[in-house]
Amino acid sequence: MGGCSPLFVLAVVLIGIPFGINGAKLAYDYYKYSCPNLETIVKREMPSIFLTDATAPAAFLRLMFHDCQVQGCDASILLDSDNSKHKPETVSSKNFAIRKRETIGYIKSILENECPGKVSCADIIALAAKESVSFSGGPHIQIPLGRKDSTTSSYQQADASLPPQGIKVHELIHTFASKGMNLEVSIAIIGAHTLGVGHCMNIASRLYDPQPNGHMHYGYEAFLRLKCPTRVPLSNFTFVPNDITPTIFDNQYYRDVLMGKGLFTIDSSISTDPRTAPIVRHFAIDQNYFFQVFSSAFVKLSSTNVLTKGKGEVRKKCSHININ
Ligand code: HEM
Ligand SMILES: *[C@@H]1O[C@H](CO)[C@@H](O)[C@H](O)[C@H]1NC(C)=O
Repeated sequence: MGGCSPLFVLAVVLIGIPFGINGAKLAYDYYKYSCPNLETIVKREMPSIFLTDATAPAAFLRLMFHDCQVQGCDASILLDSDNSKHKPETVSSKNFAIRKRETIGYIKSILENECPGKVSCADIIALAAKESVSFSGGPHIQIPLGRKDSTTSSYQQADASLPPQGIKVHELIHTFASKGMNLEVSIAIIGAHTLGVGHCMNIASRLYDPQPNGHMHYGYEAFLRLKCPTRVPLSNFTFVPNDITPTIFDNQYYRDVLMGKGLFTIDSSISTDPRTAPIVRHFAIDQNYFFQVFSSAFVKLSSTNVLTKGKGEVRKKCSHININ
């Protein structure tokens, strides 16, 4: 081995390091001096959270998506109302059943004791999500850090940016292409639906509206109608698992959607669309390959429009902007 060839170095510079806006970048050793034990502390705290609530990993993973999808990965989803006219993202019905925001605040309070004012809430969301994936049996993902927190949160932006369950395949492609994801990477990231649940509010339209609702297994459709018997849900508490192993991060989701057991319209659509069906079939038979592509998808998603360098702030409390 004769050291690094210039070509290799160039390749790393071009592909390996995700860039934020203004060309500023995240770094794998961002907290090396300011909070060297950060990852150890997060790894130490997460298992007890997971063991008291088996549905927590799903919640943290969706929380990261809903943070990154609106403005960028800037913890805007954690901001509470500031009593002014600005309503925060959580007010949006697209954030229905978003959970565990307060648990990010709890981890933040531990980190404030260890390294006051250093670790952003946005980085904690990303770290909690990656620990959720590995704890549930998925890949161990390395992510670069150094996100700053936003000073704004808007429910109108959440309404506009978060995809509805009936999103079309071409819209899914467009959504993730804007984050530098190709088709295969985009189909890998929605494999996050290997964890967690959906509520009738997001299922009923596909069962009772007249428009085509995607290919559904007959027995599965009957099961969903039993769970969600009315077009307007009578309760917001009934939920259905996203795949048959909702607490295990595996490739079962892809096998389920191929059998017509995709919970949402988009889950069904990717199994039949000629552009995406071959990728679904590949992930369904090769879990290692899915894990590999998911890991790179995760790094891309968690680097969406990050605030770095002079932009944003490190919040003292995740639920409120700093008062200077
Ligand atoms: C275009 C794409 C997507 C659509 C239309 C979509 C839609 C949905 C919907 C409607 C729910 C159910 C919420 C409920 O009723 O409780 C859900 C749950 C979930 N989504 Fe997605 N999603 C998409 C992409 C993603 C991505 C990229 C991730 C993560 C990286 C993700 C992770 C999750 C998880 C983990 C849950 C379960 C949450 C829980 O159990 O609390 N989704 N998604
Ligand atoms: C369920 O939640 C939605 C959105 O928050 C709300 O509009 C609806 O009234 C709720 N339904 C019931 C039965 O509580």
